[in-house]
Amino acid sequence: MNILERKNNIIKRLLFKKNITSNEAKFLLDKIDFDLKSYNNEKNKTLLVTGGAGFIGSNFIQYWLKKYPKDKIINLDKLTYAGNLENLKKIENNSNYKFIKGDICNRKLVNILMKHVNLVVNFAAETHVDRSVLSSEEFVRTNVEGTRNLLEAAKNNGNVRFHHISTDEVFGHLSLNDLAFTEKTAYDPRSPYSASKASSDHLVRAYYYTYKLPITISNCSNNYGPYQFPEKLIPLFVTNLIEGKKVPIYGNGQNIRDWIHVNDHNEGVDAVIHKGRIGETYCLGGGNELTNMQITMTILDEMGFGEEKIEYIKDRPGHDFRYAIDYSKAKNELGWKPKISFEQGIQNTIKWLINNQNWWRKIKSGKYQDYYKKNYSNK
Ligand code: NAD
Ligand code: DAU
Repeated sequence: MNILERKNNIIKRLLFKKNITSNEAKFLLDKIDFDLKSYNNEKNKTLLVTGGAGFIGSNFIQYWLKKYPKDKIINLDKLTYAGNLENLKKIENNSNYKFIKGDICNRKLVNILMKHVNLVVNFAAETHVDRSVLSSEEFVRTNVEGTRNLLEAAKNNGNVRFHHISTDEVFGHLSLNDLAFTEKTAYDPRSPYSASKASSDHLVRAYYYTYKLPITISNCSNNYGPYQFPEKLIPLFVTNLIEGKKVPIYGNGQNIRDWIHVNDHNEGVDAVIHKGRIGETYCLGGGNELTNMQITMTILDEMGFGEEKIEYIKDRPGHDFRYAIDYSKAKNELGWKPKISFEQGIQNTIKWLINNQNWWRKIKSGKYQDYYKKNYSNK
């Protein structure tokens, strides 16, 4: 084994360790060999993106490096079942990008990384409502404790600018006649997932009021687009149809979500980071409310299938009826609004899933099957 191989092995071992000593950390940092000091200014940023191997985070990293090619990104991701480095193939050799496999709950690791960045964008989370119904443990650990750990490290390392990615689900749910959620809507989470996200939002704001940590939060509606894990409605239904299976609709299919393309979401996050007021929350949405039945019929039509492919199954426990976002604040203050029409976005997403079958077939053939059985059998 040559020296380089030996060094790489040590690095690998360190990255997998739960706690690392400061000497080990120093060694690790040498690996992140950016010229950090020269980038530690307002013009060019060094970002710590957490959860950057997931759906929205990986799209965000690609978007950011294209738009701000002089910025540097450290992607800290635990690579849970939802994290996939194949999402980042296009940029993995970009010299301004580094990947670290690690947990946002790892205090030492996060503390070290925080010394070398001037912006955190926190995507890392457990994100699937149905999995949170099966077990909430990891949701509380990552979403609540992990966020707290990041906040603490940001506070202790020079009050690093912190943008937290949240969800519209923290506001609870609406009936048909209710007005859409705004930044002033009271929190009323109803699933273990949304309760854990609500809790993390509260912590982020608490660090602003208590310690003056420069934070912003964005609460976005349902995203869709390339690299979305095929447990979520749109990629699940499209891939099931390609596999010759039926699409499982919970209840009567009349629940409503507000759909936004992931690129529009990431442009919104960019706008909040660059133009948002510190301490503020911004709601981002697609202005595109659809019932699950409407989404399903659109997918079936686009793919040349009919209603015979629908299977009505037992409803999700505590199933939120309707989400809707009023994004006037982001529009008026930041000049942001979603640009991609649902018609265009869904066609492109279906095409992407048809053309990238290797990507999702690998995912669906592994442990995914155990989850699928647990969630969908006997329903
Ligand atoms: P995802 O499930 O596709 O990806 C989550 C990523 O976080 C994965 O790469 C995973 O490996 C990583 N991760 C999980 N636990 C971790 C830990 N302890 N340490 C480090 N990394 C960890 O999720 P997504 O759909 O891309 O969502 C990203 C963020 O956006 C989440 O915070 C989610 O709550 C929020 N959000 C999602 C949507 C949506 O429709 N998908 C809408 C609004 C907000
Ligand atoms: O609103 C933002 C949220 O959107 C994000 O914070 C979450 O991370 C993300 O998972 C998403 O939550 P939803 O529960 O709305 O998404 P999901 O794709 O799981 O479900 C969308 C709708 O489709 C919901 O009403 C439940 C329904 N559904 C879903 C699945 C997976 C079905 O009818 N059948 C299914 O098999």
